[in-house]
Amino acid sequence: MVITIDGAAGVGKTSTAKELAKRLGYQYFDTGAMYRAVTLFFIREKVDLSSKSDVITSLRAIKLKIDFSSESEMKVFLDDDDISLKIRSQEVTNKVSAVSALPDVRDMMVKIQRSFTLNGNFIVEGRDIGTVVFPDAKYKFFLQADYDIRAERRLADFERLNEAKNINDIKEDLEKRDKYDSTRKLSPLKKPDNAIIIDTTNCSLEEQVNEILKHIEI
Ligand code: DC
Repeated sequence: MVITIDGAAGVGKTSTAKELAKRLGYQYFDTGAMYRAVTLFFIREKVDLSSKSDVITSLRAIKLKIDFSSESEMKVFLDDDDISLKIRSQEVTNKVSAVSALPDVRDMMVKIQRSFTLNGNFIVEGRDIGTVVFPDAKYKFFLQADYDIRAERRLADFERLNEAKNINDIKEDLEKRDKYDSTRKLSPLKKPDNAIIIDTTNCSLEEQVNEILKHIEI
């Protein structure tokens, strides 16, 4: 079974999805990491995003591997290089929205996401998981939170990575990505019709996970 969790950056998807996976004994699946991995590959290969043939050729060459190493962790590899941390860099973050808006990239990622989840139970987080990838999922959640709290959470993420950041730059980045991700033509970020909205603005992780669990009958 697949449980979908969609929402914008900084609304608490990742921590919630990981904790939910642990509690239910499901596998955590971060689809944003896949778009980030393709972005890193395109940066390394200097792919011209405006050239469809360049994009297709590079997608054919990519050796993307995902290792579901433990229930609440997922590692991403290009060839044998573990890029799980490298895909969190600012350079990748700046370019990932443009890469994830490309139809050929989305086609390939969606196919992989569906094939990986054929067997087993997964908590899948992303932007289009309940709308496009698994429209028939029984349980769909859409997380949202106030803008200021999202920026504060992102700042705390960077502090954990020992990266100095300015809150105003983070807000600007969130605003840019929100706009790009929710206005793109293909699979824009939006609430799936039948998803349950979880507002995490004033919630602890424990509270938001418990709120989700109230809706799930397994
Ligand atoms: O969740 P994240 O911030 O790591 O995602 C990185 C980018 O990938 C995000 O800006 C939009 C894109 N993305 C997407 O288009 N579809 C998904 N299912 C997941 C992420």
